Amino acid sequence: VHPYEVIKKKRDGGALSADEIRDFIAGYTRGGIPDYQMAALCMAVFFRSLSPAELAAWTEAMLHSGDILDLSDIPGPKVDKHSTGGVGDKVSLALAPLAAACGVKVPMISGRGLGHTGGTLDKLESIPGFRVDLSTDDFRRIVRDVGACLIGQTARLAPADKKLYALRDVTATVDCIPLIASSIMSKKLAEGIDALVLDVKVGSGAFMRDLERARELARTLIQIGRGMGKRVTAVITDMDQPLGRAVGNALEVAEALDVLEGKGPADLTEVTLVLTAEMLVLAGTARSTVDARALVERAVADRSGLKKMADIVRAHGGNPDAVTNRSLLPQARTQVPVPTAASGFVTGIDAEQIGLAALALGAGREKTDSSIDPAVGVVLDRKVGDAVKTGDRLATVHANDASRITEAVQRVATTYQIAAQPPARRPLIVERLDAA
Ligand code: URA
Repeated sequence: VHPYEVIKKKRDGGALSADEIRDFIAGYTRGGIPDYQMAALCMAVFFRSLSPAELAAWTEAMLHSGDILDLSDIPGPKVDKHSTGGVGDKVSLALAPLAAACGVKVPMISGRGLGHTGGTLDKLESIPGFRVDLSTDDFRRIVRDVGACLIGQTARLAPADKKLYALRDVTATVDCIPLIASSIMSKKLAEGIDALVLDVKVGSGAFMRDLERARELARTLIQIGRGMGKRVTAVITDMDQPLGRAVGNALEVAEALDVLEGKGPADLTEVTLVLTAEMLVLAGTARSTVDARALVERAVADRSGLKKMADIVRAHGGNPDAVTNRSLLPQARTQVPVPTAASGFVTGIDAEQIGLAALALGAGREKTDSSIDPAVGVVLDRKVGDAVKTGDRLATVHANDASRITEAVQRVATTYQIAAQPPARRPLIVERLDAA
């Protein structure tokens, strides 16, 4: 291909052929096509979008830029869940053991936190001894023998996406549905899965702030998955405030364990049960979401999900006793209450600001190579809709570094909106979309 011709064609609204897309992405991954030409093409895609055929070719080219795991020798359907991300989203930590306890194989490749968002891998690593840098052979063995394994993306999985994401990040082309959808699906399809449940977040703490955009992203993701012969369901869920109460690595692990014990916060429990049930339906383990829900609830009630979590922790080199003995998880030295200066109802908690407060305490990374403190974070004692009186505790800051406490407390205090009237209720599970 002549990169210039391809860029010009897309810029002028033309349709690219599968060959043009494949050669362009392969050339970029190998280094033959420079960043500036790929950046120009991404900007053209931003304004002109991609047709379904172009999107399929684009995703396929990204997927085939590296290795695709073959898990076909592991019996049973392999199903994963992907969330478009949010603050306090620790769903994977409870969902993977619950789905595995119900007989689904869960090969999960997860990410690390960056900026105000947390990452599943960082949360898991707060469990003493837990390792996420396992070989592909260990990954395969643990999925087969234990039922779920959670590792990081290897350099050989969808390398085009790794390079392209970094480029989009600095060229204002992240916020583009075909580019987001192909990025997500190329990574997920490289895992060797048969089916995928997508949790598309909507609200002030999410990538997609309004429902129309969230729906469009969900439809696009489903369309790509279907085109590649995978079963895909998407659930749009609310991310207007953090999910659950805990934000920070070990604090979130403890809360996910609460869900497995049947005593987690209502919103986190509901999202976890809904998404796990969808996985069971896609796996064929249950015939309907109602049947699936009953199976997942049983895995909570009979503690088989909790026991499966201990098995997963052991398989990853971690201390399985931490699953039942919370004192084995890292604890921050200081807990500081954040009081309210007003009475009324909590009408809003900006998820991004809570994430930034946790980041300021050391729970997150400002740069990809920053180190994190697993113990620190924020626990929300009040959530949207709760009544409060002056002086009540809104949240608790868990800190190790005394010099960071004032900023975090202030950030948390100012992000709570308090008003005289209770807010209108927002649905937590907004919409479910499947291939039909
Ligand atoms: N998550 C991804 O993996 N890719 C994007 O482009 C956006 C969010």
